[in-house]
Amino acid sequence: MKDYKSWADEYSKQLASLYDADESRQIFLLAYSFIRNKKAVHYALERHTLVEDGASIQFLHMLQELQRGRPIQHIIGEADFYGLRFKVNEHTLIPRPETEELVDWIIQEYADIRDLTILDIGTGSGCIAISLAKHLPNARVDALDISKEAIAVARENAVQLGVPVNFIQADILEWDSFMQDSQRYTVVVSNPPYITPKEQAGMHSNVLQYEPHLALFVEEHNPLLFYDVAADLAKKHMESHGALFFEINQYLAEQTVDLLRKKGFGRLRLRKDLNHAARMISAKQIL
Ligand SMILES: C[S@@+](CC[C@H](N)C(=O)[O-])C[C@H]1O[C@@H](n2cnc3c(N)ncnc32)[C@H](O)[C@@H]1O
Repeated sequence: MKDYKSWADEYSKQLASLYDADESRQIFLLAYSFIRNKKAVHYALERHTLVEDGASIQFLHMLQELQRGRPIQHIIGEADFYGLRFKVNEHTLIPRPETEELVDWIIQEYADIRDLTILDIGTGSGCIAISLAKHLPNARVDALDISKEAIAVARENAVQLGVPVNFIQADILEWDSFMQDSQRYTVVVSNPPYITPKEQAGMHSNVLQYEPHLALFVEEHNPLLFYDVAADLAKKHMESHGALFFEINQYLAEQTVDLLRKKGFGRLRLRKDLNHAARMISAKQIL
């Protein structure tokens, strides 16, 4: 019989070719928390406790799935984002820490604003829209995605987390055909697909194999397509004092700034994420 610490060591050893030591440890703690139905901090208290057979079998099965490259969030069906727990599956991007920084930026700027309408373009699991609705309770939040399956997951997450979000299944490239003329937003936010096929080479195989390509990739010849379209939408449907917030491709930061400038946006603010990559941008319309 192994104790919990031995399972933690086994995970680090067996996953060394896929993940670095920190990542393996985080993965083990997620597995531990799921199997034990306890918070990860509890591990420190019982690391030398022997693991009973049923739990050992679960640790082993999870390890085998992980070795095949399946992300832990898909195995346990959940991911943490901005202090909330979201259901995720193969149709939704696993929420990333850098996106939490974008959400935090908006929450800091709009915490004291009363009348707030927000549109989240490409909502996926709903992590941006739902976190904003949770922390900005005065906001009315719409969230849009082309994927029927992603919208179903996002709806479940909103119900589970107890926030009202209006979900729309639609293709943002066709926004002009479904947006009501009178609709106005204070904040238009998006983390759209922004990875070019050339960048695939440098990506982790488990991302390529298990995460939805619809959520990740854009065509090489038009990598800023979604920013272009979202900016056009914002020009028509954003309140005059409103702002755009985009997560961006760090390698295309300058081009994204240029695109927004050309479209008549100003007050551009580019921000780096915790890894010092230019990852977020905000802009307002020049009146
Ligand atoms: C990078 S993911 C972001 C998901 C989520 N907002 C997040 O930050 O984790 C991009 C999302 O855009 C959606 N998407 C792709 N093409 C779209 C389109 N033409 N119209 C609307 N949504 C689209 C994908 O289904 C995916 O959920």
